[in-house]
Amino acid sequence: MLKKTTLKFLAPAALLFAAIAAADTPFKPVIDVHHTMEWITYPAAEVIWDSAGQIIDKDGEHDLAPTTAEGWENVARNAAILAESGNLLMLPGRAAGDDWVAYSAQMVAAASKALDAAEARDANALFDAGGEVYQACVACHEKYWVKLEDRIN
Ligand code: HEC
Repeated sequence: MLKKTTLKFLAPAALLFAAIAAADTPFKPVIDVHHTMEWITYPAAEVIWDSAGQIIDKDGEHDLAPTTAEGWENVARNAAILAESGNLLMLPGRAAGDDWVAYSAQMVAAASKALDAAEARDANALFDAGGEVYQACVACHEKYWVKLEDRIN
């Protein structure tokens, strides 16, 4: 049995190592939050939303779920991009307030569900995950997306 004292020792050591490793990583953000949204987050989320649920047009009701392996792989790939874009929002210096990281984490969690659903080719689960993704976007935008007209006025 692993002794409690061993665990107590290991946990801080692991945290310390993680902190040192992070400090030594020469990461360098290349684009700002605005372009992260426009070029990475939004296009990836759109692929998920365009692949879930049904639409009704003049020819009747159509299921949006992918019908081919390539289609599902495309959803999985974009769900992964979306999840990782949530991690990009958590880079040091990006948080605009206390709950910024929580909103970003909410997006990572929702996009991870979409990834699981795409890998399982589960259209219903993908639809639900798409809804959670949307809620994560809106939650953060309501607080942090200051519209241009508000900035000027
Ligand atoms: C943690 C906070 C946060 C989350 C989560 C978030 N956003 Fe944003 N988003 C912002 C902020 C802040 C801006 C305003 C950035 C700016 O224009 O300076 C923004 C702006 C945008 C824009 C406008 C960019 C433009 O071209 O003007 C789009 C589109 C967008 N977000 C899409 C999304 C989508 C889709 C999601 C969810 C999948 C999402 N965002 C999740 C914070 C967030």
